[in-house]
Amino acid sequence: LSLAISTDQNLLEHCLAADLPVTRSCRNGNCGRCDSRLQKGQVQLRNGSIIHAPAIIPLCIAHARSDIHISHIPLVQLPTHWRCQWQNPQTLRLPAGRQTPPRQGDICAILVTHGVETNEIAEINGRNIVLRHPSGNKLESGSASLITIDRDHHGDYSLWREYDGEQQQLWAHLNHPTALVAQAAYQQSGTSGRYLILSD
Ligand code: FES
Repeated sequence: LSLAISTDQNLLEHCLAADLPVTRSCRNGNCGRCDSRLQKGQVQLRNGSIIHAPAIIPLCIAHARSDIHISHIPLVQLPTHWRCQWQNPQTLRLPAGRQTPPRQGDICAILVTHGVETNEIAEINGRNIVLRHPSGNKLESGSASLITIDRDHHGDYSLWREYDGEQQQLWAHLNHPTALVAQAAYQQSGTSGRYLILSD
């Protein structure tokens, strides 16, 4: 991917503007989540220091000072989807097979009859997924779709439902991939209305 970049925006902002879902958190060079490899060229960090390639740089505080080439940009993992069976309001069972289970601590969205619930995976026990919170779903149907949302699901987007001329905010502070999944999940859940992703 080749981008025309200006020196006034940092490299993370350039990547996000180009819809590259770079992992990030602090945005001030501390957490290391956006660290990438500078292969060619020079950048200036927020504190004024100039870094020459080859080097690992935090994109969030780096500004280009020449034509640059960057690799190993960490991207948010795209969400994964499982079709499960409810065992009880706090436990879902994965289908038999060799599908890799989600991980303990994953944040997940579960499609229920009239919408989407978010939850956290407290424990994986064989094929059983134990949720942090019991579902509020009435368990009318035995099956449920579970989608893991990347751990770093915080970002600058929110998801809104527009129905009958009114807008209601469903989720705030999502990153873009999570917002897309949540939007698709709501659309598939059959609830009426339009689902919009807006930047905060
Ligand atoms: S977002 Fe934390 S170092 Fe860049």
